[in-house]
Amino acid sequence: MKALILVGGYGTRLRPLTLSRPKPLVEFCNKPMLYHQIQALHEAGVTHIILAVSYRAEMMEKELSELGNKLGIQITYSLEEEPLGTGGPIALASQYLGDADLFFVLNSDVICDFPFKDMIQFHKNHGKEGTIVVTTVAEPSKYGVVIYDEVGRIGSFVEKPQEYVSNKINAGMYIFSPGILKRIQLQPTSIEKDVFPNMAQEGQLYAMELKGYWMDIGQPKDFLTGMCLYLNSLSQKDKGSLTSGSQFVGNVLVHETAKIGQNCRIGPNVVIGPKVTIEDGVRIHRSTILGGSKIKAYSMLNDCIIGWNCDIGRWVRMENVCVLGEDVNVKDELYLNGGFVLPHKEIKTSVTEPQIIM
Ligand code: GDD
Ligand code: MG
Repeated sequence: MKALILVGGYGTRLRPLTLSRPKPLVEFCNKPMLYHQIQALHEAGVTHIILAVSYRAEMMEKELSELGNKLGIQITYSLEEEPLGTGGPIALASQYLGDADLFFVLNSDVICDFPFKDMIQFHKNHGKEGTIVVTTVAEPSKYGVVIYDEVGRIGSFVEKPQEYVSNKINAGMYIFSPGILKRIQLQPTSIEKDVFPNMAQEGQLYAMELKGYWMDIGQPKDFLTGMCLYLNSLSQKDKGSLTSGSQFVGNVLVHETAKIGQNCRIGPNVVIGPKVTIEDGVRIHRSTILGGSKIKAYSMLNDCIIGWNCDIGRWVRMENVCVLGEDVNVKDELYLNGGFVLPHKEIKTSVTEPQIIM
């Protein structure tokens, strides 16, 4: 089996983190987003993965060659000279996909219990050109919305509808027969707008309902919600991989190389990355701290994503979805009430209203 993963796109909604790394390499629960998909594909028997890259390809190659070798997966980089959207990359990679019986196509920013084996079975059962995985969400207008009948046959697909159509949405995971290749030209193409509606009309597209949790983690708020869902799922599958002890509350994941001081209260729903230092008396709730950062004594973080190698002073209070880019320095005793801080900034005064600090 082969799979193509869409790893292009500028990840603008996950800035300032994506100013330092392409979105698929931003660590989600201590692993680059893309590792979650690659490991699950490997478990489902995929041996060749094509990464559709439109920028920062060198960084992607450098970070992934080791994982590919470790898992024994062949990784091919399919480079776009200009971004080809979500469909064009499939045409560009047709030389690799054309000879497969079936192949997966994935968005690189979704997290769930990946149902790859079930997808193969479902797709073979209906025998048409495409299967997309669908899930139910409260706010469907941010996604591709699908309408289908009781056997899963999709009657219509509408990308980001202005008006309510349904709460069943495209979860960003597909399996196709090579027949789909004749529908896609080698040019910038949206699979959601230019390809799926026609396939639906011709009865060639089926929906498989996802069991369990799902989240698109390409925006800070959703990244944090996805983190809570992932940790909860981990607590049910592999409680031993979570961190326990008197300083930890609920589901907490601490990297083995992180250092935690005394009298802290960490959790529920916290991820602490490699080489992070947490000093004494720190409180953290519903946040991710990325690698190399330092949180000094008695600070309190709630609903934050702290980028790599940041330095948070003593007695700082941050809440309400604060996202710090790489190497941000927050001075002692400040209050940050939401907002995004660009990489390499120094914050010397409190910020009481959410804003972008450049
Ligand atoms: N190679 C390549 N080239 N990849 C791209 C490009 C490009 O030009 N543009 C976007 N991508 C990748 C992104 O990296 C991501 O993995 C995937 O394509 C989807 O792009 P997003 O920008 O994350 O799309 P979205 O979240 O607004 O909507 C998509 O995902 C939803 C589910 O999360 C759509 O597929 C929706 O229909 C779907 O509901
Ligand atoms: Mg997305």
